[in-house]
Parts: sequence; structure tokens; C-alpha cells
Amino acid sequence: MPCSTRSDELVFFVNGRKLSVIERNVDPEVTLLTFLRKIVRLTGTKHGCGRGGCGACTVMVSTYDSTSKKIRHFSVTACLVPICSLYGAAVTTVEGVGSIKTRIHPVQERIAKSHGTQCGFCTPGMVMSMYTLLRNHLDPSEEQLLEALGGNLCRCTGYRPILESGRTFCAEANGCQQKGTGKCCLDQGENDSSSLGRESGLCTELFVKEEFQPLDPTQELIFPPELLRMATNPEKCTLTFHGERVTWISPGSFKDLLELKAKHPEAPLVLGNTSLGPAMKPQERFHPVLLSPVRIPELHVVSQKSNGLTLGAGCSLAEVRDVLAEIISELPEEKTQTYRALLKHLKSLAGQQIRNMASLGGHVISRHHYSDLNPILAVGNATLNLISTEGVRQIPLNQHFLAGLASADLKPEEILESVHIPHSRKWEFVAAFRQAECRQNALPDVTAGMRVLFEDGTDTIADLSLAYGGLGAATVSAQRSCQQLLGRHWNELMLDEACRLLLEEVSLPASAPGGRVEFKRTLVVSFFFKFYLEVLRELQKLLDRRYPEIPARFLSALEDLPVGMTQGIQTYQSVDSHQPLQDPVGRPIMHLSGLKHATGEAVFCDDIPVVDKELVMALVTSTRAHAKIISIDSSEALELPGVVDVITAEDIPGTNGAADDKLLAVDEVLCVGQLICAVVAETEVQVKRAIEKVKITYEDLEPVIFSIEDAIKHNSFLCPEKKLEQGNIEEAFEKVDQIVEGEVHVGGQEHFYMETQRVLVIPKTEDHELDIYVSTQDAAHVQKTVSSTLSIPINRITCHVKRVGGGFGGKVGRPATFAAIAAVGSLKTGRPIRLVLDREDDMLITGGRHPLFGKYKVGFMNSGRIKALDIECYINGGCTLDESEMVAEFLTLKLENAYKIHNLRFRSRACLTNLPSNTAFRGFGFPQGTLVTEACITAVAAKCGLPPEKIRKKNMYKTVDKTIYKQAFSPEPLIRCWDECLERASFHSRREQVEEFNKKNYWKKKGIALIPMKFSVGFAATSYHQAAALVHIYTDGSVLVTHGGNELGQGIHTKMLQVASRELKIPMSSMHVCETSTATVPNTIATAASVGSDVNGKAVQNACQILLKRLEPIMKKHPGGTWEEWVEAAFAKRISLSATGYFRGYKAFMDWEKGEGDPFPYYVYGAACSEVEIDCLTGAHRKIRTDIVMDACCSLNPAIDIGQIEGAFIQGMGLYTTEELNYSPEGILHSRGPDEYKIPTVTDIPEEFNVSLLPSSHTPLTIYSSKGLGESGMFLGSSVFFAIADAVAAARRERDIAQDFTVRSPATPEWVRMACADRFTEMIPRDEPKTFKPWSIPIA
Ligand SMILES: Cc1cc2nc3c(=O)[nH]c(=O)nc-3n(C[C@H](O)[C@H](O)[C@H](O)COP(=O)(O)OP(=O)(O)OC[C@H]3O[C@@H](n4cnc5c(N)ncnc54)[C@H](O)[C@@H]3O)c2cc1C
Ligand code: FES
Ligand code: FES
Repeated sequence: MPCSTRSDELVFFVNGRKLSVIERNVDPEVTLLTFLRKIVRLTGTKHGCGRGGCGACTVMVSTYDSTSKKIRHFSVTACLVPICSLYGAAVTTVEGVGSIKTRIHPVQERIAKSHGTQCGFCTPGMVMSMYTLLRNHLDPSEEQLLEALGGNLCRCTGYRPILESGRTFCAEANGCQQKGTGKCCLDQGENDSSSLGRESGLCTELFVKEEFQPLDPTQELIFPPELLRMATNPEKCTLTFHGERVTWISPGSFKDLLELKAKHPEAPLVLGNTSLGPAMKPQERFHPVLLSPVRIPELHVVSQKSNGLTLGAGCSLAEVRDVLAEIISELPEEKTQTYRALLKHLKSLAGQQIRNMASLGGHVISRHHYSDLNPILAVGNATLNLISTEGVRQIPLNQHFLAGLASADLKPEEILESVHIPHSRKWEFVAAFRQAECRQNALPDVTAGMRVLFEDGTDTIADLSLAYGGLGAATVSAQRSCQQLLGRHWNELMLDEACRLLLEEVSLPASAPGGRVEFKRTLVVSFFFKFYLEVLRELQKLLDRRYPEIPARFLSALEDLPVGMTQGIQTYQSVDSHQPLQDPVGRPIMHLSGLKHATGEAVFCDDIPVVDKELVMALVTSTRAHAKIISIDSSEALELPGVVDVITAEDIPGTNGAADDKLLAVDEVLCVGQLICAVVAETEVQVKRAIEKVKITYEDLEPVIFSIEDAIKHNSFLCPEKKLEQGNIEEAFEKVDQIVEGEVHVGGQEHFYMETQRVLVIPKTEDHELDIYVSTQDAAHVQKTVSSTLSIPINRITCHVKRVGGGFGGKVGRPATFAAIAAVGSLKTGRPIRLVLDREDDMLITGGRHPLFGKYKVGFMNSGRIKALDIECYINGGCTLDESEMVAEFLTLKLENAYKIHNLRFRSRACLTNLPSNTAFRGFGFPQGTLVTEACITAVAAKCGLPPEKIRKKNMYKTVDKTIYKQAFSPEPLIRCWDECLERASFHSRREQVEEFNKKNYWKKKGIALIPMKFSVGFAATSYHQAAALVHIYTDGSVLVTHGGNELGQGIHTKMLQVASRELKIPMSSMHVCETSTATVPNTIATAASVGSDVNGKAVQNACQILLKRLEPIMKKHPGGTWEEWVEAAFAKRISLSATGYFRGYKAFMDWEKGEGDPFPYYVYGAACSEVEIDCLTGAHRKIRTDIVMDACCSLNPAIDIGQIEGAFIQGMGLYTTEELNYSPEGILHSRGPDEYKIPTVTDIPEEFNVSLLPSSHTPLTIYSSKGLGESGMFLGSSVFFAIADAVAAARRERDIAQDFTVRSPATPEWVRMACADRFTEMIPRDEPKTFKPWSIPIA
């Protein structure tokens, strides 16, 4: 067992190439992700979170299992894999799967051609998850596909097209987009939408499946023979890898492992590293010695005996799942109760990658308070088989072990060898429950394992075990309660007593970490009730008629809401049959970068190779919400190796931002997360260590304001009130039948673009020139800000934007700040600087969507006709103005949505608080504000006893009219969208079915809602609509198009080439867009407000028309010539082949004094209908179906536009259902990563998802009568919110509780559960507000 000071050779393969890593590069602290991206420069694998939660870094690992003699392929998140753990493994990255330069793989081809990529940042991870699935299953089931993608987040597409591409490989796939329903879209049938595909001119195909190359497994990389040899004759010697701070020891035999553990008792065992890895990240914690049992087969042994199953501690959770599935299929049901419960949770625990990596032993030993498996193992009487050099022993996996009591724990030198789980017996029942924010890939709020054993042939409790996770620092066991219930009969009396006892024993303090205290208390008893009913049902079967039947209505408490594969139809207008084939406008053309996204060849900002002398920057942020900066002491940081400098405000040669919005803080900080200074160092590791050493001393200041309520109290506002009024509201209120007043709270939203903020500044040697590569929506703003910060003219600075990994408004203003600070560092050090925010910092520093508090007062007639509406909105702007005034303006302008109400008053104010400044976000105030309007309509409906859709229709604009700000418009497309959505969704019959369902089911309720939308596009100022383009024709006939828009994933470059192709009448393949650069197209506006393609399209059109005009004489002279010949002739005739196109912009203005204007060039109309089912006992919901009809006019590219609608819809759905930001009472953001902040995952999307573009209307104003659809779909996500509210209202009606309840978004499981008040919510103890310090505070 040698342990030398020299590192051994670490041998593993990447993409079929042997990598023998020695000495300097074998650092146990280096993850596979860092190794791939920074050392071997395979940048296709992306860094999205660094914590295993987003899947952007997914790669495939293959190992040879010498016991089963099989090669195992499994997906992993490279960010959590230490390279040292890869000894003997073969890694396949996206580059190894296929490449444009050689051969693309069918997975890559299909995801791109099915339009499954937008920004493309998640795409390599998606490809790798799908690829791994196919390496294991050539024709996987749809369920396997969903499982494989469950750990991969995408913020752009809404997942539907990604699933569609994966489905082309599935066994069930049959060529019909409605597969799974048993129907075909070509069948005649009662499904209204099925016939629509045949309407004239309507198309439902966005890609041609027949074009796809078949999957050919013989083409895949083989498992390297050398690794096979190594695995079949394994080295028994210990391998040691020494890093700078950490030594990794990988013994070759079990004996050596035990000896090493005895020698290094404090050293953890690294299995999956999914617990250790994330825990070591904060404060750069580390263990000097790590023991890796990866080469010890004894830890993987699975054995089954007559009394139970023994699972090796080294088995991955995925392996455990497979073993359990097999044993369940083999053994009688009564023996497999515990296994079934475990299997249920193993399906929803984390994503596939984590389940592949995480080990059973690591899971048990980590004893996470939220552990899904430990409560079940505890109630299932599992035992832990421990081993050390001293021998073996067993300990029970019980509450004492889970609480970490020393007497019940492992000794430091002991290792968990295996876990023994006994079979269950007849008269024994085991169940598992969990509730999380999302249905999959989310840590549970509460999780539970429950077991009861009855005396033979009776319902008398002989033994009972209940264990809960998520309720404290460890899994808790309700032992006392269980003891007291022994001998009781399984009946209602026992249930009541059990609930009382449980609430006493499993108590949760009001200020418990994680918050949601009352919800969690309710779940404790709700889960027990579910268990009670489940067991009752079984007892009925066993004891036959001695038990009364559970009334059918209550059976709905039992089943979990199913997770289903999505299906649906996308309908759009096909192009005119006379349109030339070459003309791509109106056709579903694939995203120009689609294939490059899928192969990992698309270069994002941080994929740019390291440049000579490059330094890395990291930011030091405020830990106080409002304080005076007394001192900044960077001396300790500067002494650390590799640290080059610390940049403070004093280093800024020019302007330090605005007076009230400084780039780097001076004297005072206004929020936690405010930038104070920046450290530059040689490497990422060094800079991260250094920022921890910068010491800031503060003196707290008053007041500290976080919530809108406090801001109103302190009269703390960022700008004057925005107000619009029409009619005579006071008079109207006097004449109405009824008046309702209400409040609406809408939480904020994090952009969660998959690519965090990043910039690379490269100083040139001459004339103070700087090249800036930046992920931004507004390159000119970056350029201007850097210029004023450095005090150098704008003409010395060139900003380059190749592509942006998602923006959604979050990269309009903020990138300029980061670029300017990096530029100061670059100027001071004279070296290039790279600044890449990690996910935690990005979420902490950059604000997001404004939280909103709205109050409404509405007067209406009993018929539902609204006569007067007064809405007052407050948005939480954070600590600086940023875009808050504009957001307040926009939301005021847009509040009326689709409704004509004669007497209106809308007021909005932006609050100044001590939170990071909130900013632009898709929809710009509309999604929050209009929720107030729609909530008000719902309240009117409840008061009138009419369905909300009736009130909506009654009050909708019907004829050509003027808005509250006197802009004329025709609502004809709005009405068409509404009517068509009603019809396509078969709304009326489904409304009846929903009501029927609700009558029959007490614990599950369905809800349905149809929401109309009038969304105004654009900025309220003409100058913001100008755009320019530069088009060059080269002498070989190829064309280079550049324009002012940035590629954010929305496909703007694709659309621009479609425009250029139509104008120049040459194919898109002869054209190219290289990047957006301030050197080619200057003074651009932000790519935002849905008008990017509109205005830049006009500019490209203009440039092409100028060029064509120049070429026309030649073309006329040689009508039979080719494009190339004409171009050559033009060159010979000295005709300029380069032209600037310009669009002066749509007219737009708003006079706030008069409350009048024409602020928007046009409107996008739409309607969405969603149906959901909720579980009243847990607050969970499933989205059954969504139908969207959107007025896209003449879509430039229906695939891209439908992608925008779906993506925005799912993002909106996230806003209104799962995405919750939590702040501590000190103003510190708790939710700083994918674990704490849940954006929708692949299993959250509607099971049936139909999108239809309204057959053409015309908007002559825009390029080819198209419409900008970037943002509007966001608000339609509220149809899910109102469907949930509809279901909640049904529950409340049945329970006879007040119908008017405070509307809160997001409608999280917590909100739904607590709104469906019942005997269980009544039982729980409540805490007097202000008697405790809550974990999080409301800010909306
Ligand atoms: C993104 C993400 C999502 C997750 N979601 C969930 C979820 O929904 N539900 C849930 O319950 N969990 C979840 N987890 C937690 C996950 O289940 C655990 O992290 C995992 O099971 C730990 O196993 P590991 O092999 O990675 O442990 P490691 O990180 O390798 O080790 C953890 C600890 O266990 C010790 N250890 C490991 N094996 C042994 C042994 N044989 N003997 C003695 N000590 C040992 C190590 O010394 C170390 O201290 C999630 C984790 C991540 C990263
Ligand atoms: S970067 Fe690895 S999972 Fe997010
Ligand atoms: S395409 Fe998935 S994150 Fe952008």
C-alpha cells in the first residue's frame, strides 16, 4: 500500500483518446468540467451552475464492470466529477459524439432540425443525456426519455421540441405528432383540433422526419481496449494523486481501503461526490486527504436472502433503482412494500445524472435532512453493515443514527459496506410521500416514510414507524406518537389521535430554515392521512366486508398525480404555393447555429481560448443591506499567490457609473450583493480564494427597507407616480350593482439565463484600443459605458457579440457594469481580463423581474359588465433606478389588457428598497401588472356567480376603439384568437367535464381558464426603434450580413438571412452572419422589446434593396446570367458591393402629462386555455393541457416563432407557479442556484401542448407583415395560474370557505395547499406574526 509523494499516472480516455495525466495536472480538486474546458479545451461541455443542478455539463462516462462483464454507460454532471475518480474510465463529450467537420450524430441532427435549440447553451447537455440513453437503449420508451432529460434545464425552448426530437428514437414513435393518444391527426374525430390540420393552407409539420439519418450503433466510439485490459486485470496497488492542497488515494483492494481509513480516519470516502462536492464549494473548504473506493468491487455487491436484500454501499442510486425494479417484479407484493416505496422516490430524486453518480452509501451517510431514502430505510428497519480493520458490526439505520448521535454512528475508521433492507411481511404496509416545488429534479420540502404492521388478520396496530425529512436538521422519527398508537384500530379515531400526536412531536419552529413552516406542518398530517387511506384500502381488500368502503369521492386522495410525456400540435399558415422555393420567408427554417449548438462547436463568450497573459477577475460584494463602508482591507488577498491586483472605485479613471448607481461602491452600500471591488489573479482558483480574504468593515445605516409595504410606509420611491385615467371613476362607482376590492402579490423572477454574465476584455497595444467580447443584449451600451468609465473615446472600443446564452432582459443593462469593471482592471494591469460570474453570484448581484403589489377596486353590474376599475400597483425596484421607471410606465399602459372599461384609473409607482436593482425582464411589467387585472376579473366572476370566461368576453374590446391612452386599434385579431382558442380547446365541453370531475372528487380538483391578451410591442420612443445593417457582397457572390441585433437564441440571425435571401433572391446558403460588432454597425439599440427582428429586418431589407438597385442594370443587361456573374460584372464596373441599410424606426411617443400617445407600433394578440389538476392535500398540480392561439400575422419563420411562444409560455408558467425568490430578514437572497430556485423542468410542461398561429392578418408596418413574438407568450403562462386558482376555488366552494382569497403568485404547492383549507390546515399550530424571526420575508 505505497503512498509516495509523486503522483501516479492517471489514465482515462476522452472521446477515444488516451489521456495520461501526470504530475502538474493531477489535482484532486480539479473537476472533469474544468479539465475539459480549461485543460484539454473541449468547450462544448458548458458550465451552468457548478452544482449538479442544471445538466449543462452532462457527459457520458463508460466503465467496464468485470463482475457482470458489461460496459456501463452513464450520464454524469462533469462539474461534480473529480478527475481523479476517472481512472480507467472513458469519457465521451459532445465533441466525441459528432461534429460538423466530420459527421454529425443523429441525436445532434434531430435536436437541431426539430428546433430543439434556441440559445444553444443547454443543447450539448441535452445531446449527451439523450445520447447516453441511446447507448443503453436503442429504442427507448417515452418514460425513459423523460427520465433521461429530467436533470437538464433549458430556459429557452420550453422543452417540447427537445422531447419531440428525442421521441423520434422512441419505440412508440409512429410518425404522428399526436401519438400516445391512440388517435392520429389525420383521423376524423371528436377532437376538434384533429381536423384543423387539414384546413386549407394550414401546416402542422415543423420538420421533415424522413430527412433524418438513421441511428447506426455500429458508428459509435468503442470502449477503449486498453481500458478493457486494465479492468480485466486490475492493478491491485494503491494509486495516489497529489494536488496543491489535497491528496487523493485510491486503494486497489478492500483491505487497503480499510487500512487507509484507519490511517486517515478523518478522510471522507468519495463516491459520487454529489454531497461532498457542493459542500466543499462555499468558502473553498477542502479535505486534505480523500479516499476513493471506486476500484473496490466489494462495495457493489448486491445479494438477496430469504429475509431481505443487501445492497453494496457503493451502488449508485440508479443501480439501486434497477435492482429494486427487478426484485419487485420477482417477489410477492407483500414482501416488497419497502422496495416499492424506495423505488417511488428514486424516480423523482434529483435528475438522472445525479442518480447515476450518487451512491447509496453516500446518501445514507450524508444524512441530509431532506433525504428521500433515509426515512423509508428507517421505517423499513434497514441495518448498516459496517467494516473496519477491527472487524464488522451492524447498526440500525434509526432515528439515533440519523440524528448523528455518536453512540449510534460509524466510528471514524469505519466504512459502510452495505445496507440491508428486510422484506416486508403480510399485514405490513409501507409508503413514501414527498412534496417539492417541482415534480422532478427538486429537493423535497417534506418527505416521509411510513410503515404499519397489524396483528395477523386484524386492524390492530402491532408496530408503527413514521419518519419525516425536511423538517429539521435531520430526518425525524415520530417514535413517541407511534408508541402511543400501538394497539389502536385503524380508524378515524386513530387518525385524529395520530394527527394530534404527530403535530406535537414533529414540531417545526416558526423560524425554521427553509421557511414554509405552516405548509410543512400541514404536510406532516396530510401525508399521514394519505397513508391512512392507502392502508385502509388494503385492509378492505384483506379484511373484506368488515371494513366500510372508502367513499369514491375520497379515493382521489390516494394516487399521485401522474407525470406524462407531452404531445401536441403546432399549427401555422403555410406559404403561398406560388412562393419560389428559394424564398425562405415564412418557412420553418432551422436556427442557423442549430447544428453547431448540438455539436458543441458554437462558441460562447467563455469558450474563447485563453489569450496571452490573461488574468481572471472575481467580484467582492456587500454583505450588508445598507451600510457605510468604513474600510476595505485587501492586504491579505494581495499576499496570496497569483493575485495581481485589487480594483476599487479609486482606480476608475473616468466616471464611476451614475451618481445613484455606481459601478463600484464608494463610502456606502445600498444592498447585499452590491459590487465593492474586484480582485484579479492568474487563475480562477487563486482569484476565488483571494476574494474571501478582502475584508470590508461596515457601519450599518437606517432605514433598511426590503418590502413594498415598508417602502410605502417610508415614502421611499424611485420616481414619480405614473397615472392614466379615463371617464369618471368616482361617479361610476356610485352607479354599479357591486364593488369588490382586492389585493394581488406577484413575486419577482430570476432571469436564469443558462449562460451567466461574462466578459473578456483584451487591450490592444496601440491607441488605447480595447476589444470586448461580451454576452449582452446591448453592445453599444457596453461600449458607451466602458468609454465613460475609462475616459477614452467610444471609437477605441469594439464590442463583439457572437451569441448570447439567453438574455430575457437580464443582459440589457448589467453586462455594461461587468465589462466596465473588467476594463478598468485591464487598463490598470495592462493585461486581458476575463470575468465570468458563477451562478450564485449572478443570482445575488443581478436583479430580475420586479415583484409587484397591486390593489384593485372594481365596480360592476350583476350581469358582469364592469363599469369602473381602479388599479394601483407598486413594484419593488431595488436600490437604483435602472429600468424601474420605464417598467412602471409600461405596466400602467398595459394594465387594461384586452378590456374596454369606460371608467378607469391606473396608477403605478416604483419603490426604492435595499435590494439589488430590478431590471428588464421579458414582458417588461406586463406579466405582473396584468395578473392584477385578470385577478380582478376572476373576483368579479365569483361575485356574479358566473364563469370568469363569460366576464372576460363580456368586457373585451369588440370594435375599432381607442385604448386608455387614446391609441386607436382594431381588436378583430384578439376576438379571432379568443374564439379560435375556445374552439380548438373544446373549451365548453371541457369546462363541463371539469365540473363533473370536481363533483366526484373531493381531494383532487381540476381547473380550467382561458385568458385573452393584447400585448403591445416595442419601446415608447421612436429613436429606440431605429436600426442599421451592413451587407457586403463579395466577388465570389457570397454575402455577409451584419446588423444591430444580437443573437440571444431567438433566431434573429436566421430571420435576417431569410429577409436578405428574399430580397437578393439568392439562397441562404450563400450568406453568412459572423457576429454583432459595434465596429460594423454602430449606435445600435438593445435587442429587446420584441422588435429586434422587425427593425433590423427593415434595415437588412433596405441594405439589400440598395444593393439590388445597383445590380439591376447589369441583371437587366444579362438576364440569363448567374448571381456570381452579375456580381463579378458589377465589381468590374466599379459598382460598390457594400451597403448600409437603415430603418428610421416606428413612430412612438407618450405624453404622460396628457395621458395620451401612440406609444406602441402595434399589438400582438393571443389567447391561451389551460387545464390543471391539483392535489388538495399536497398542493401539487399537473398541467393537463394548454392551447395557445397567437396572432403572428405573417410569420417570418413559424418554427422560430412557435419556439418563442412556447419558450415564453413556459417561462411565464415558471413565474406564476414555481419560481420563488426568498430573502432573509437581512436582505440576503437565499435562492441562489437551481436547487433553491426552480425553473420548469421537462416534466413540468403541459401533457398536451398545442400552439396555433392565427391565419394571417396584415400589419403593413412591419417587415413582410410579421410580428415580434419574443415576449408576449410570457403572460399566457398565467392561464395555468388561473386554472390552478379555478381548481382551488372549486375546493373552497365545496368546503364552504370564502371565495375571495388573496391572490399570490407564484401559485406554489405551499399556496395551493394552504388555500385548500381543510381539517388538516385547521389542526396545525399557528404562530403569531412578529413573535419570531422568519427565515424569509415577503418583499412584494
Ligand atoms: C443536484 C442534486 C440534487 C439532489 N436531489 C436530491 C433529492 O431530490 N433527494 C435526496 O434525497 N437527495 C438529493 N440529492 C442528494 C444526493 O442524494 C446525495 O448527495 C447523494 O446520495 C450522496 O451520495 P454520493 O455518493 O455522491 O456521496 P459523496 O458526496 O461521495 O459522499 C458523501 C459522504 O458520505 C461518506 N461516505 C460515502 N460512502 C461511504 C461509505 N461507504 N462509508 C462511509 N462513509 C461514506 C463520505 O465520506 C462523505 O462524507 C441531490 C444532490 C444533488 C447534487
Ligand atoms: S454546470 Fe454541472 S450541472 Fe450545472
Ligand atoms: S436553448 Fe436551452 S437554454 Fe437556451
